[in-house]
Parts: sequence; C-alpha cells; structure tokens
Amino acid sequence: MTLLLEVEDLKKYFIEGGFLSSILGGTRIVKAVDGVSFKLSRGETLALVGESGSGKTTTGRLILRLIEPTSGRILFDGIDITGMKPGELRKLRPRMQMIFQDPYASLNPRMSIGKAIAEPLVVHGRATWGEARREALEMLERVGLTPASDFYERKPIQLSGGQRQRAVIARAMILKPDLLVADEPVSMIDVSMRTSILKLLLEFRREYNMSMIMITHDLAVARLVADRIAVMYLGKIVEIGPTEEVLNSPRHPYTEALIAAAPTIVRSARKPRLRIKGEIADPGRIPSGCRFHPRCPYSDSKRCVEEEPEVTYYDGRGVACHYPLSP
Ligand SMILES: Nc1ncnc2c1ncn2[C@@H]1O[C@H](COP(=O)(O)OP(=O)(O)OP(=O)(O)O)[C@@H](O)[C@H]1O
Ligand code: SF4
Ligand SMILES: [Mg+2]
Repeated sequence: MTLLLEVEDLKKYFIEGGFLSSILGGTRIVKAVDGVSFKLSRGETLALVGESGSGKTTTGRLILRLIEPTSGRILFDGIDITGMKPGELRKLRPRMQMIFQDPYASLNPRMSIGKAIAEPLVVHGRATWGEARREALEMLERVGLTPASDFYERKPIQLSGGQRQRAVIARAMILKPDLLVADEPVSMIDVSMRTSILKLLLEFRREYNMSMIMITHDLAVARLVADRIAVMYLGKIVEIGPTEEVLNSPRHPYTEALIAAAPTIVRSARKPRLRIKGEIADPGRIPSGCRFHPRCPYSDSKRCVEEEPEVTYYDGRGVACHYPLSP
C-alpha cells in the first residue's frame, strides 16, 4: 500500500502564563502532544482514541498544519510540510480537510448551506460560482439533504444537528481530499443518526480512496470505521495496531482499561486485574517514567516509575509498556 502520511516524533508544548508569569516563575509547559509517530496508507482509516485531554485534537490540528508543531516532522504524500510556507501550503490545502469537533461552530451562521458547500471550489480556483452551485446541489443530494434546492438556501440554524453535520461533510468532501481528519464527527449527534453519518464517511472514503484519521473517545465508533487504532495517553501513543487485534487482545494496560470501561464493546477475553484508577494526569505535570504508572494496575516495579517505555513493535503491534500483556 502507498503511504500518504508519515508523522515523526511530533510534539506540541503550549506555554501557559504571560510575560509576568515568566518573571515570577509561574509559566507552565503543557505537553499536549509529546512525541507522536505513525504512518497512514492511502485509503486507510486510523482511529485516534483516548480520554479527554490525551492530545487527540491537538494531533489532528498539527497534522494539517493548523497549529505549528514545537518539533517533529510531517510528510504528506512524500512532501515535508513541517516548515512549509503558507503560500505553498495553500496549494496542498484542498487535499487535506478537517471536520471540527464542534459542528455548530464550523458553518458560518450568515452563509446559506449551499454557498458554504460551493465556496471551497471557488476559493481554490476549481470552479466559477455557477459551476460550484451545480456541484454543491449534487453534493447536497449525495449527503441526503433533499430536496437539494431547498437545502441550498437554508441557513445553518434551520438544520438539525445531524443535517448540519451532513452539510459539514459535504463541504469537506466537495474538494475530493486525499486526507480527512474527522474530530469526533458524531459525538454531538443524536445516537439514532450516528451510524448513517459514519457510513456516509466510509462511502466517501471508498469512492475517493481517501485516508482518514478518525478522532473519537468512543471505541464502538473506532471499531465501525477504522482499520487500525492508535491509543493516546497524555500526549503519546501507547498502543497502535489493527482494530480487531487491539480491541480483542489489548497489550497495553491502558487500552485494556479503556475497553473495560466501554459498555458497548465486546470485552477482551482477559479480565482486567483492576479498574483504571483516578483521572488522566495534568499534561503540565507528566509523571516520571511511564506516564501511566500512577493509574496502572500492573505497575509494581521501579522501572515503571523511573524509565519511560518507548513504543516497541510485536508482529505489527506497537506497545509502549515495559511489561506488555500477553496477546
Ligand atoms: N491552546 C492551548 N493552550 C494550552 N493548553 C492547551 C491548548 N490546546 C489544548 N491544550 C491542552 O492540551 C491537552 C490536550 O488537549 P486536546 O484538545 O488535544 O485533547 P483531546 O484528546 O482532543 O480531548 P477531548 O477528548 O476533550 O477533545 C489538554 O490538557 C488541553 O487542555
Ligand atoms: S510500563 Fe509499567 S506502569 Fe507503564 S503501562 Fe506498563 S506496566 Fe503499567
Ligand atoms: Mg478533542
């Protein structure tokens, strides 16, 4: 399979506190993303899962260069886009799209739905307004917003949550991107409509041979759409591998705990020793050694507290744990 995306040791540290804090010593470094590496093939879907605050959204934004990385490298279709100037990046923009976490904030409330969908074609010089209107009408039909001519004129406020997300998808898909980063695309949508919206994304993926990064805290969503899963904890990937393998026989204690806490997912054969303890730590104060050690039911060695585990590959499965669970 051809690679579309390579992410190497990507980091994003946010500095909190202003000038005064820097003098008084009150600045805090928030390590939102702290060394993420993975590869994505054409047509492949990778789910990024993990608790709130694990760095999923920040990773997605970094990959599309919507925010600047502190360090690391991003290769898109073999091109190093890490330090690319805005002008050059603009040419690549149509090939990489994002669906943002909040569907209510992603459409201009004053612009009609049809115009919002047609606009990217005009902005990127792909069509005149007349041509773009025709394509947008076709796209509205395609995503199930019919009658298309009626939906074309509507404002976002006149749409339900599910319809609005269909419009957001239409806007992202009109440029036939090679890569889509979908950040929790169904978390704010009524449960009854989630599957049909995810299926719509899968149809586009097949049609365009598009690669997808599906950001979700819901393992059932990951299971439905993803070829592989990357589990993030405090800014790092702690386990990565084929979806069914990871969900059926997790090798990292954190993955095991996430599965145990997910009611809709078939439990792994092994019963976890203990439920996960406490809450995700503050990314401004990352624990020593293995960052999961204060919550890990299996942590009983000095090594866990002192030495940071790197991702090690076992038969195509990457695990960052000194004592990975047996498959
Ligand atoms: N601009 C920022 N300034 C400071 N800290 C930030 C900023 N953006 C994100 N963070 C912090 O970085 C960490 C990771 O945030 P991120 O939004 O990437 O997590 P997430 O996994 O997407 O969480 P959620 O599931 O809640 O969406 C959080 O602790 C967050 O507070
Ligand atoms: S390295 Fe130790 S603390 Fe970290 S996940 Fe593995 S067993 Fe748990
Ligand atoms: Mg997020």
